[in-house]
Amino acid sequence: MSASSTPLALSGSRDLLARAAKVDATLAYSGYVLPRDRLVDGEYPVFAERASGAHVWDVDGNKYLDFILAYGTIILGHADPVVSAAVAEEIRDGFAITLRKRVQVELAELLTSVIPGAERVFLLKSGSDATSAAVRVSRAHTGRERVVRWGYNGWHDWCATRPGGVPAQAVSTFTYNDLASLEAEFEAHPGEIACLLMMPFEVEPPAPGFLQAAAELAHAHGALFVLDEMRSGFRMSLGGAQEKYGVTADLVTFSKAMANGYPISVLVGSERVMRTVGEVHIGSTFHVNGAEMAAALATITQLRDTPVLKHVEALGEQFLRGLDGQATASPVSAEAVGVPQMPFLRFTDPDEQALARARDAFYTETIRRGVLLHPNHHWYICGAMTEKDIATALEATAAGFRAAEAALGHG
Ligand SMILES: Cc1ncc(COP(=O)(O)O)c(C=O)c1O
Repeated sequence: MSASSTPLALSGSRDLLARAAKVDATLAYSGYVLPRDRLVDGEYPVFAERASGAHVWDVDGNKYLDFILAYGTIILGHADPVVSAAVAEEIRDGFAITLRKRVQVELAELLTSVIPGAERVFLLKSGSDATSAAVRVSRAHTGRERVVRWGYNGWHDWCATRPGGVPAQAVSTFTYNDLASLEAEFEAHPGEIACLLMMPFEVEPPAPGFLQAAAELAHAHGALFVLDEMRSGFRMSLGGAQEKYGVTADLVTFSKAMANGYPISVLVGSERVMRTVGEVHIGSTFHVNGAEMAAALATITQLRDTPVLKHVEALGEQFLRGLDGQATASPVSAEAVGVPQMPFLRFTDPDEQALARARDAFYTETIRRGVLLHPNHHWYICGAMTEKDIATALEATAAGFRAAEAALGHG
């Protein structure tokens, strides 16, 4: 058994955070300063110096194997050289010109060729841009206002996760993988629902037939079926969850992995539904910029032409198998969950204090060993990782389990 690890030197992160707390509301009033949003208090870095491939270096010089990957925007690896070169070429020639650039058409052609059901695309910048556009198009298309949604869909009024500053919304949700709870929403609001908008899954995959039944239910009630593929898109397969689970939505939204970290998103759908885009207001100054489009073109081309997504899946399977073995062997209540491309370790002790003690001890150990895992959000695998990286991560999680066992007084 290896010796227990020592705390990381994090003074550079702490100094910058103290400066930020006086001037930067993004950090001072949300993000890292409020206990609510901290990972493991005082143990995680806040500021990065650089990132390359599967690794991140913080401002104190600590190196981490990165399983957060900018919340899933990185699929190939940080600073992928092919994507960087494509962006550099685009910006050398000017990328914010009012007039559209060729790359927009090339990207639209590529997107329609790889996404099931995508006859037309509308390019935007953020994930929230795209899901909000989907809601507006659905409302205009059906002449209805109400939305049923599931999962995290962004920060705009109709899907904000905290009530502050948000007027009443005609939006409700339901229990995932529970068709009866979805049916109840449609029955409670007959003829009022514009769309069912949902992530295809978050951690647990869909029960067999669940997505198909959800789509049928929406259609039976005259609503559009919209999939939010922000996390699954361009990660679990080239055609996303639609391809993986054999379901086709009326509208689908993508962002994150589609451009390996650059800010771009897209709303796609059939020509019949996407035509409604012409009747509504969706637009933002930066939507025309070509640099992120060049990044998306270079990213998706690599995903299409190389076995990188197979590699990501195989590494995720290796990670999940190892985690499952560790969780099964440990007296700590925890289970390996998620799809291979987005694995997670869920602590399950019904005693909340014991759960928090085990979780904090586990993640303190893994971060000290240089593995950047999120305690409250599923993780991501990227193409720059290797089997050796996964073995390294599993050594850290094994030590994490030992630390959690010690924190709970086992052995
Ligand atoms: C499933 C899903 N939908 C929508 C969003 C919103 O995207 P953005 O944060 O780019 O606005 C996110 C972001 O995490 C997401 O995970």
